Amino acid sequence: MSVIEMRGIKREYRMESRSSSKTKNKGAEAVVVRALRGLDFSANEGEFVSVMGPSGSGKSTLMNILGCLDKPSAGSYTLDGIETSSSDSNTFAYIRNRKIGFVFQSFNLLARTTALENVELPLFYRRPEKKDILKSAYARKERAVKTLQEVGLADRIDHFPSQLSGGQQQRVAIARAMVNDPAFILADEPTGNLDTGMSLEIMGLFQQLNDTGKTIIMVTHEPELAAYTKRIITLRDGKLVSDKPVTERRNAFQDLARWKNDNVLIADKNKGAGDT
Ligand SMILES: Nc1ncnc2c1ncn2[C@@H]1O[C@H](COP(=O)(O)OP(=O)(O)OP(=O)(O)O)[C@@H](O)[C@H]1O
Ligand SMILES: [Mg+2]
Repeated sequence: MSVIEMRGIKREYRMESRSSSKTKNKGAEAVVVRALRGLDFSANEGEFVSVMGPSGSGKSTLMNILGCLDKPSAGSYTLDGIETSSSDSNTFAYIRNRKIGFVFQSFNLLARTTALENVELPLFYRRPEKKDILKSAYARKERAVKTLQEVGLADRIDHFPSQLSGGQQQRVAIARAMVNDPAFILADEPTGNLDTGMSLEIMGLFQQLNDTGKTIIMVTHEPELAAYTKRIITLRDGKLVSDKPVTERRNAFQDLARWKNDNVLIADKNKGAGDT
């Protein structure tokens, strides 16, 4: 089933240049930046897509539209069967809360709040529907605990972000993104602030989630990370210039094991050298 269906998406930014506002001759010197110039993109349930392309090619603009943080200037975008361009701001907010899980480079966790409370947060903003299984505080807590278990943090639920490693903080953020069971996860350079080992852990977790059917769209600058996904789309000058399946997909947990092996060996050698 198609989760994302975009047709002819354009996004233009109209900028009044300073000189034109001074001369009161508005419009005469307006500059139009065409960030997206007619883009078609669709993704089915269970896909794992990398969004690549040089700086300024329109990746963040596309992510903002995919995430219903911004509307296109033209074109249609259907998300999980809902046409977003004609929806009012209430529906737009509902879609954002229920249909999309966001993961950012900088984790964006609340500092004075435990892992569990961070993950519970989106459930409080959930507009309860009739017979919503998450109406009670108990059910919400249970769901948050279960989601933290799924990202391997069952033993860290009462920790504050400052008591967790970068990789663990990003796991909390991924649990927070998943807790409402969204139609897809949108990740903008999710390993940008992490070292190699932690990046591999996060990519392994994404692969694991994707294996259970989660749809993931991830912006990355690094071909090494795109190699863990299933499909790579490339933008250039606001257009989609390439859309290819990943033929030799890498396994992040295997790479992590190899990386650990190499690094522990090196660390042991250094330790041995220091002891003598
Ligand atoms: N709010 C804005 N107002 C005007 N122009 C904008 C705005 N946001 C982005 N742009 C322009 O739109 C184009 C696409 O920007 P975008 O941020 O989507 O690129 P990107 O691919 O995410 O780049 P990067 O890899 O550097 O993050 C750029 O030319 C940028 O200058
Ligand atoms: Mg960007």
